[in-house]
Amino acid sequence: MEAVSHIPVLRDAVLEGLAVRADGLYVDGTFGRGGHSRAILERLGPEGRLLAMDRDPEAAAAAADLADDPRFAFEPAPFSTMAATLCRRFPGRPVDGVFLDLGVSSPQLDTPERGFSFQHDGPLDMRMDPTCGESAADWLARADETEIADVIYRYGEERHSRRIARAIVEARREAPITRTGELAELVSRAVPRREPGKHPATRSFQALRIFVNQELAELEQWLATIPDVLAPGARLVVISFHSLEDRMVKQALRKPVADVRLPRGLPVMPEEPERKLRPVGKPIHADRDEQRRNPRSRSAVLRIGERL
Ligand SMILES: C[S@@+](CC[C@H](N)C(=O)[O-])C[C@H]1O[C@@H](n2cnc3c(N)ncnc32)[C@H](O)[C@@H]1O
Repeated sequence: MEAVSHIPVLRDAVLEGLAVRADGLYVDGTFGRGGHSRAILERLGPEGRLLAMDRDPEAAAAAADLADDPRFAFEPAPFSTMAATLCRRFPGRPVDGVFLDLGVSSPQLDTPERGFSFQHDGPLDMRMDPTCGESAADWLARADETEIADVIYRYGEERHSRRIARAIVEARREAPITRTGELAELVSRAVPRREPGKHPATRSFQALRIFVNQELAELEQWLATIPDVLAPGARLVVISFHSLEDRMVKQALRKPVADVRLPRGLPVMPEEPERKLRPVGKPIHADRDEQRRNPRSRSAVLRIGERL
């Protein structure tokens, strides 16, 4: 497969947000091609450790060139399992920082065989881990029209989701939809009005990808379990690429962990529920220069949290 480069988004802000210490333990839950991981490793001394994770077997292959570095370990698994993985691999060692760069990597998007892109024709797959779960094509072949419309509406925030779902169901009566090119064309025909500068299939492809990979459930599970393995003062840094993810991260950094509800009228002062995280600074966006050099950074929002 053709080698395609990946430019790490907001690299310096990630390092600053993690406040990398030379002897700390850090986790990169979305290794990709390792742009951020390599930058973290540059800051670590001999006692520092970096655990990287990714559920894409191609990311695991890309991590092989770091295998000789004794400070580096790779776990080919979804980041929802990060807390458990840390307990197994580094029992009793407090974690100083965790990082996620969400979504798909440029190599995933730019490799037609992975089936993520409406710009290159390929098999309609979209799985980050193609060895497990159902491909987008298989799901579109069996889901009912309402389910398809709901997914496209909820995860793509697509106003024309019902028309698109109808067009998909009509088309599959003739033949199964198996190619990204076919789906992109079908969606383009179904969408009545185009958003300037945006391919009409952008939202539908994003929605299917999020659904096929259960991306929001992964993030939810991670946000619920990771605070418990962080050392006091440890940093959590997340780069999101759309509002659904960013909202989840923002809320997790603000909300008290235990939602204590007392019966109404009870003469007891409720205790402050325990908060585990606090937001650090404001959300960070790529500057104009980075946006020009790396168009993928345009929709990136980086948030930093600290373990209380
Ligand atoms: C935007 S890329 C990361 C790029 C990386 N920071 C770099 O500099 O090369 C996102 C990566 O996260 C992986 N990924 C997405 N969701 C995941 C999940 N729930 N668990 C593990 N890996 C995931 C994808 O397979 C992809 O390789």
